[in-house]
Amino acid sequence: MSLLDLASKRHSPRAFDGSALTWDDLAEAFEVARLSSSSYNNQPWRFVVGLRGEEGFDALLETAVEANRTWMKDAGAIVGVMASTVLEKTGETDHAALLGVGMAVGAMELAFTEAGLASMQAGGFDRAAFRELLGLPEHIVALSLLAVGRLPEGHIPPSKARKSLSDIAFRVGYDIR
Ligand SMILES: Cc1cc2nc3c(=O)[nH]c(=O)nc-3n(C[C@H](O)[C@H](O)[C@H](O)COP(=O)(O)O)c2cc1C
Repeated sequence: MSLLDLASKRHSPRAFDGSALTWDDLAEAFEVARLSSSSYNNQPWRFVVGLRGEEGFDALLETAVEANRTWMKDAGAIVGVMASTVLEKTGETDHAALLGVGMAVGAMELAFTEAGLASMQAGGFDRAAFRELLGLPEHIVALSLLAVGRLPEGHIPPSKARKSLSDIAFRVGYDIR
């Protein structure tokens, strides 16, 4: 499948079929993330994985807001997405950490799509509860819960609501809104 086909097919399903995933099902997408580029090659992405059927899955699910829990409970795995905000070489702040993690997760989502899986991120979760669950040090920022799973029978992807290219890409000298 071309990259454009994968990008068109990927969507946030808000529905999964309730089947479990294994670590192997996730391994290739994590490898894609591992190979992603990052500022100073700092590799700021950090992930915590709860596979369906494990206590970790239930604990991560518990941190989601109620509206997200309704569909996330049927995922095969929940991946907690975090960023390390310190440059390991200098100890300074990594101002590009969130961008780096976003790029890695974006690539992961396309890898899941190519593997015939569905995934969806949720920023609606209790960050304090998540931090407490994992005992996170201060320089690790909690960003999202990434739910991964298989689509239910008969699932119809929603249409893509998107801005037009002229609303997001400009020539120099034009007003950027
Ligand atoms: C970082 C991030 C956080 C999101 N948080 C939520 C969320 O908490 N709840 C939800 O229903 N959708 C959430 N979404 C899904 C977006 O609403 C969705 O990506 C957007 O509407 C575009 O739709 P599409 O992913 O199907 O193309 C999130 C998406 C991203 C990338």
